[in-house]
Amino acid sequence: MSYEDAQYIREMAMKHSEMFGDGIALIASENVMSPLAKEVMISDLESRYAEGLPHHRYYQGNYYVDLIEDRTNELLSKLFRTSQTDPRPISGTNANSAAIYALAGPGDLVATPSLSGGGHISAAEFGILGMRSVRTINYPYDSDTMTIDPDQASKMIIREKPKVCLFGQSVFMFPAPLKEMSEAFHEAGCKVWYDGAHVLGLIAGGRFQDPLREGADIVTGSTHKTFPGPQHGVILGNTDDETWKAVRRAVFPGVLSNHHLNAMAALGVTAAEELEFGKKYADDIISNAKTLAEELYSNGFNVLAEKRGFTESHTMAVDVSKNGGGRYVAETLEKCGIILNKNLLPWDDNKKSQNPSGIRIGVQEATRVGMGKSEMKEIASLITRAIIKHEDPEKIRTEVKQLKSGFREVKYCYGKMDGYSYIKLI
Ligand SMILES: Cc1ncc(COP(=O)(O)O)c(C=O)c1O
Repeated sequence: MSYEDAQYIREMAMKHSEMFGDGIALIASENVMSPLAKEVMISDLESRYAEGLPHHRYYQGNYYVDLIEDRTNELLSKLFRTSQTDPRPISGTNANSAAIYALAGPGDLVATPSLSGGGHISAAEFGILGMRSVRTINYPYDSDTMTIDPDQASKMIIREKPKVCLFGQSVFMFPAPLKEMSEAFHEAGCKVWYDGAHVLGLIAGGRFQDPLREGADIVTGSTHKTFPGPQHGVILGNTDDETWKAVRRAVFPGVLSNHHLNAMAALGVTAAEELEFGKKYADDIISNAKTLAEELYSNGFNVLAEKRGFTESHTMAVDVSKNGGGRYVAETLEKCGIILNKNLLPWDDNKKSQNPSGIRIGVQEATRVGMGKSEMKEIASLITRAIIKHEDPEKIRTEVKQLKSGFREVKYCYGKMDGYSYIKLI
């Protein structure tokens, strides 16, 4: 029986790959890896341990791991222009856990974006900030421009004097106002922590703000969203030695033991590819996001932040409360083979998270497989036909599959590969 169970799971995994291969994935937090990154992911590295730092390990057998980790650090240093790099966190949340352990303790106050203002659950009181028993206070948010209000937030920081100011969201269209708030940080004497999970690839490409040059002490990130690598994490710093040492200790032995060596190697490969292709990739992502947002808006959708040109990143937020709500729209589009997620909007109560007013769209994966402006227009038209014109989802699904069939190969990397192929081993 267990052989059938194993085959069942394998078959479901194949069907899953097929579903994404045939569909248009617009989830803002996902991407597909390059052939080289995928290759090292399934190498022997995935079976091994390497605790601690290169050349000071607790296990034998780490000769090549040390070389890989050294090179990955060098590549990250070059890409993000800092000598403080840590490629060990095994996810963005894991990186955030290390950051909060290093930067604040029980009872300390941490300023964060609110959930409805796009903040991530790890920055919420019921997430890891709460687990660390810190108190949180949310920045005032301007829903017209979909950004933290820098003047009001500065006043709040000077008044409340938090130990840490955390920036970075999961709905992250515009740069955080780090420069505008620098005096307030100085006056409060706080550390600045920037969660770049969503926009790490845009930062790497030099096409978003550069948080380490704008006053951030620490940047945490996932390496699989706009940064198109493995599911893993990273921490970058531009801070004093003592803080950086505390971050390193918080990573190991604080929040992990082994750091998933295959994923770290894939992160190194992706960093090398980003150095060569990252600028063009980031440019194309942003131009595609703007095109899709404009097109959806002109087709009648309430794309937010019109005043600021909708977006300067990979993402946009759409208020679909008049189109049946976030859940209905996301589920209907899934039937059409267009995969995205429902999302809270600034005026939604957290209790509405199962049926919020909005949807979130990200174009980094569609861009990665070669889609450009004309495909963005086609996608906008397919979404409009499904949601505003209520056309048959099955009919749209057929057209989605047809459109996608020309866009499966991973671009902006070395080598060629169908990004959705299932690697059969037996
Ligand atoms: C702003 C932000 N931080 C952290 C994370 C967590 O990253 P991970 O899924 O790699 O743990 C996310 C996930 O989407 C995010 O949006």
